[in-house]
Parts: sequence; structure tokens; C-alpha cells
Amino acid sequence: MTDRALSPRTAEKLVEIATAAPSTHNSQPWRFVARPAEAVIEIYADPARTLRDGDPHGRAVHIACGAALFNLRLAVAMSGNEPVTRLLPRPHNPLLLACVRLAGHHRARPAERDLYGVIGRRGAHQPSGHHLVPRRVLAELAEAATTEGAALRVLAESDVMRVLRLTAVDHQLRSDPRRTAGLARWPGPPGTQLAVICTRSDDRASWLRAGQAMQHVLLLGAHRGLRASPLTPVLTGAARFDSAFAGEYPEMLLRLGYGPPAELTSRRPVWQTLHVMPAAQAARAAVPARC
Ligand SMILES: Cc1cc2nc3c(=O)[nH]c(=O)nc-3n(C[C@H](O)[C@H](O)[C@H](O)COP(=O)(O)O)c2cc1C
Repeated sequence: MTDRALSPRTAEKLVEIATAAPSTHNSQPWRFVARPAEAVIEIYADPARTLRDGDPHGRAVHIACGAALFNLRLAVAMSGNEPVTRLLPRPHNPLLLACVRLAGHHRARPAERDLYGVIGRRGAHQPSGHHLVPRRVLAELAEAATTEGAALRVLAESDVMRVLRLTAVDHQLRSDPRRTAGLARWPGPPGTQLAVICTRSDDRASWLRAGQAMQHVLLLGAHRGLRASPLTPVLTGAARFDSAFAGEYPEMLLRLGYGPPAELTSRRPVWQTLHVMPAAQAARAAVPARC
């Protein structure tokens, strides 16, 4: 791969798209390093922007960075390059969460164009409509999550209150007023459905897969005219062992429905999140992660 594939300008554009991803309280807990010589962009967790409260193991950081990774993969595909992704490429560097290599020619598929087209329009909108999401659309969303190595389980009405009650009794939630404030609005107005992104394991790679799955679901939902808002509280406490999850790990709760769009939130400028490594510095630096 040549320098042409990943010029500094291209890296800036790709990272700008990546950072449109959602994150807890819009914390944007990521930073990016572009290595033009290897045509690689790396995603790191940014400890200065992680929220200690309520996320002691960094699950929410991994989910947010997984969502940014999904956007980055789409942006690379739309730039005409095949995105080759590795999760946790250097186990001894826990902050390096993923890398994407621009690997040769790629013709973007219509589905990729559709998702890419709504990246800038997606937002954590509270659904307020009175129409149920059709089963056909829910099935499409579930398939999107499966593609990313996770699952989307739509909660049956009979499960909703029980799962939320289990969630609400968790002591971590009770100690965080911002989260209980969010919960007070649950399960939301009529016509709102609750779905949970689940994974088979509960490790860092699974959290990154959950983040990619969440973003795939959110973008596909936005493309289908849905409003969706994410919530994390179901992650902890007794809810984890509820029968609604059939032995899987619930990573992220999503409220799905219809309604008017809310205002979009802003992001930090790209120069604050991206470091483009000059060739000379790259040569002096440690051997880059294989990507
Ligand atoms: C891992 C994660 C956890 C989140 N948890 C909550 C939450 O508990 N309550 C809430 O209202 N929004 C939550 N959100 C949504 C964020 O607040 C929202 O994504 C962020 O403010 C950026 O806004 P945007 O998604 O509209 O761009 C979460 C998002 C992510 C990615």
C-alpha cells in the first residue's frame, strides 16, 4: 500500500467520520494515530476522556470505540479501499483497541452507501411515536448485529418491566443520578420497543464487537427512519442473569421507535483526536502492530 492511499488529508476525513459515533455523555473517549507508510489507522482509548464512574472496567469506552471503528470501516470502504480490521492488535498495549488497514481496491456496496449516508444524521433521539417497529425491520436490525459478531434481542413486553426493575435495583445505578434520571423515562412512550445488544463472551473484544453491532443497528435504523437511543445500565447487576438473555451477556440497551429528530450533538475538531505519524517518526517508532 502506498502513501497515496492514506494521505494526511484522507486520514483527517476518515477520522472525522469515525468520530460521529455515539459515546457515553458524548465523552468521545478515543484518539487516532494514522500511519500513512503502512496505510493504517489505529484507534486508542483516551484515558483522559474516560468516565470512571459507572464504567470501572472500561466497557462503555470499548463500546464507543467499537462504534467509531464501525464508522471508520464504512468510511474506508467508501474511499474505495477494503478495510481490514484487527481488534486488540497488541495485547501488551491495552489502550490500542483496534486498527484498520486500507487494503487494496474496494467497490462500496449499496448497503454500505446507505449506512454511510446517514452517519451525519444519526443521533441519540428519544423515540416518541406511537407506531411499533415492524417485525421485518427488527429482523433486519438483528441480522446487522449478527454480521458484527453480536446479537440483537428485542425484549418481549412481558420481559421489559422485569429487566428494568432488575436494572434499577443495581447499586451502581442508584449511586449515579445521571443514570437513574435516564431510567425514569423508561420504558418510554407507547410505540417504543426495547432491544438489547448481547454477546457470547464478556471480554474486551466482545465489547468492541458490541460497539460495532450497536452502530450498525443504529445506522440501519436511521436509514429505515427509526429513532433510537442507547442506554448502558442493563449491563450490571442481576439483569445480567435474567432469562431474557438466554445465557448471553447484555451489553447495551436500545430504545427503538419513531418520532421527530432531535438536535445533533457536536464533536471535538479532528486535530484534537488525530496524530498523523510522519514517515521519519514511524521509522524510529516501535514496530507497528500488524494490521
Ligand atoms: C456506551 C454508551 C452508553 C450510553 N449511555 C447512555 C445513557 O446511559 N443514557 C443516555 O441518555 N444516553 C446514553 N448514551 C447516548 C449518548 O449520551 C450519546 O450518544 C452522546 O450524547 C452523543 O450524542 P449522539 O449519539 O446524539 O451523537 C450512551 C452512548 C454510548 C455509546
